[in-house]
Amino acid sequence: EKGGYDYFMLKEIAEQPKAVADTLLGRIDPSGSLTLDEVRISPSELREIDKVVIVACGTAFHAGLIAKYAIEHWTRIPCEVELASEFRYRDPILDGRSLVIAISQSGETMDTLMALRHAREQGSKVLAICNTNGSTIPRESDAVLYTHAGPEVAVASTKAFLTQLVACYLVALYLGQVRGTKWGDEIQAVIKDLSRISEEVERVLETMEPVRALARTLAGKDTVLFLGRHVGYPVALEGALKLKELAYMHAEGFAAGELKHGPIALIEEDVPVVVVVPSPRGRSVLHDKIVSNIQEIRARGARTIVIAEEGDEAVVPYADHLIRIPATPTLLQPLVATVPLQVFACELATARGNEVDQPRNLAKSVTVE
Ligand code: F6R
Repeated sequence: EKGGYDYFMLKEIAEQPKAVADTLLGRIDPSGSLTLDEVRISPSELREIDKVVIVACGTAFHAGLIAKYAIEHWTRIPCEVELASEFRYRDPILDGRSLVIAISQSGETMDTLMALRHAREQGSKVLAICNTNGSTIPRESDAVLYTHAGPEVAVASTKAFLTQLVACYLVALYLGQVRGTKWGDEIQAVIKDLSRISEEVERVLETMEPVRALARTLAGKDTVLFLGRHVGYPVALEGALKLKELAYMHAEGFAAGELKHGPIALIEEDVPVVVVVPSPRGRSVLHDKIVSNIQEIRARGARTIVIAEEGDEAVVPYADHLIRIPATPTLLQPLVATVPLQVFACELATARGNEVDQPRNLAKSVTVE
């Protein structure tokens, strides 16, 4: 049932192009507009929304962090993202005009469930993004957008994450469509790119051998750091989480702009630092800032592992290891940039002799607090 793979995780990583395509299927019509029939919150209600709040845990929370960039950029609606476990014990300010999005692969995560109950008590509408049909979180929500990743068996989330991102982009674009904000050439172009993105994920998968080889050489390290900016920051957090849970190594993700505010003190000779580089074609200022971050850490001895778009030559002089990903619009980059980090963590775990599908102390769905 592992389909010839040694681990479910490897199988699920390989299934990502299909999972992404399946999640898009039937949701973008040929004219480029979105049909999300399942979102049974009426367009007039969606036009009234004045705040989006995303609640989730773990990897799903990272999807939410990325969604914030997309939602605010495409819809101009303020968006907050919060760990469900924090949200539910605060006094969050919500009302009937807040849209709460609960993201959960299993649909059974206790903290996310409690957060959504809390939101509904305040009169907010809750939209679930979920991978498990008929699970508790979608049953208790006002509406649900299912991700079509198929069953995810490995404890570490991979294909569910990519499909959560796709669902978040769809919701953001749909909100933009319904509200008419910024609905123009940029959005049409993004929809086109999104509809082709599964091929790009496939291309990334075809080039992972050097990432595996690199991971094997790092099996004896104690720490790996991850840096990113903008949507690359949550990608860095996700890369670090994968490494912790699978390889049992110390791993931390940082916003690259925070380097000088502390983390740079961690840089010493030969510490591997993975840097997620934004597209040089998009907001080039983001790109240039991160290139200077790479220079800074390399000057202090870090071993730089740079994930950068094909054709980005500016990073070449500072990359000890260069991992190429296809060019995508800035906001969609996490769909391709996360894949090498999954492969990296999986290979490191294997090299360290760890149980990939069932990491110690972890459960696939956390139904207790
Ligand atoms: C990490 C991982 C966990 C889950 C988290 C939320 O690889 O799998 O962090 O993402 O426990 O689970 P769901 O999405 O089922 O609510």
